[in-house]
Amino acid sequence: MRTTSLTFLFSAFLCAAGCSDGGDGAGETGGAGATSGSGGAGATSGSGGATTGTSATTGSGSGGAAASTSSATSGSGGGATTSTSSATSGSGGSSPAPARVPAASASTLREAGEKANPPLLIGAAISGGGLNDNNYKRVAAAEHNYVTAENEMKWDALEPNPGQFSWGAADNIVNWARSNNMKVKGHTLVWHSQLPGWMNSMTGATQVEQAMRRHIENVMGHFKDRLNHWDVVNEAVLTDSDTGVGNPRMRPTVFFNALGERYLDLAFQIAREQDPTAKLYYNDYSIDARNEKADFVYEMVKGMVERGVPIDGVGLQMHIGPPNNEAGGADVAYNLRRFADLGLEVLISEMDINRCGDVVTADEQLTYYHDIVEACFVMPECVGITFWGINDGRSWLNSWSTARCNGRSSESLLFNDQYQKKETYNRVMDALLGR
Ligand code: G3I
Repeated sequence: MRTTSLTFLFSAFLCAAGCSDGGDGAGETGGAGATSGSGGAGATSGSGGATTGTSATTGSGSGGAAASTSSATSGSGGGATTSTSSATSGSGGSSPAPARVPAASASTLREAGEKANPPLLIGAAISGGGLNDNNYKRVAAAEHNYVTAENEMKWDALEPNPGQFSWGAADNIVNWARSNNMKVKGHTLVWHSQLPGWMNSMTGATQVEQAMRRHIENVMGHFKDRLNHWDVVNEAVLTDSDTGVGNPRMRPTVFFNALGERYLDLAFQIAREQDPTAKLYYNDYSIDARNEKADFVYEMVKGMVERGVPIDGVGLQMHIGPPNNEAGGADVAYNLRRFADLGLEVLISEMDINRCGDVVTADEQLTYYHDIVEACFVMPECVGITFWGINDGRSWLNSWSTARCNGRSSESLLFNDQYQKKETYNRVMDALLGR
């Protein structure tokens, strides 16, 4: 366990390295919602997705953060692992942006994110079922300004039969988010899981490429100008262990088996043709710690950047606790920094910290929440943090047998079953306010 506060160290390093202007903080979505039927590809479009890119003033990122034993900055090197305390920095080429400046005070996470300079998106995975619950809706909209549909925009939900699209559940979430002035990330276009049977059993390069193209074009066309981020490819890499250790390799999915690794480039190219302004992301789990999977994904993404593939960002899912990896703030900072040094923006895209089986203790959970949020907060290239759910009672982890909660609550989120703030909430707020 590490008790790390990174704000001071990051600020000192970043400004020593040259305080250049920041990346985009929080994108502004644009015009009215596109509509479309099931058929052909893509809607035309207006502007959408403009970014604010407020430049940060230099600063310490606020006070309070005492330097401690572990720091992490990093370079863009070849993904080597380093000791847990004090990873040194590499070149990376470009100067990192100056540290984000926190709000002086805030009464919600959303307000803390919006008042930071540059702003930070505060997200939540939202489920269609949750939107039937008034308490859920109230907390979700008060505390967050960014939404990812938990299941409703996956392939099986949107295209249950070949070429037949079903938009209702996803549109409900997108419309609710927009009516509460929240931004939305599309999740997810190309993923091995939650594929309908007809797609999962498809073979043949031409057939798979055509099906992938039809899906991306129709889905992005339908939501064009309403969404500003897309998870284009999700979880393309596999290791022997869910912790990201052992024999990292491309996952043998229907896409990889038919097209080889080039399916990745192809998916991003099709997405870019469909929407020139949306931010296009690669998203994966257990790339939060310093492990073989994180190194493999780093090299994979670096190769895409070098080939000119239109990728804008990388999402570190941040499902912490068994069976996935555990990562401290310094580990997460190391990985966020090396992806950002490729010229990409980064996101914490699906954060929860499960206490199933007490493998992660209550104290460790609080420290992880604070230090990981802080690692993102101090980096302007880190544009948002999405929590994977609102309250413990509705967490996907409670029913995921691999997590071994055995029917007990995973206690993984920021609100309890009665939608009261937990200590985890307070530690996240501390990190957002630079404390
Ligand atoms: O909708 C059906 C329902 O009709 C059926 O009666 C019921 C019986 O089991 O299943 C329902 O579907 C479930 C679905 O969630 C909606 O609740 C699936 O079984 C269940 O497997 C599915 O789990 C989702 C999981 O992705 C699937 O891989 C979780 O809710 C969702 O939180 C989780 O999210 C993923 C991200 O998309 C990608 N990263 C990892 C993350 C956690 O696994």
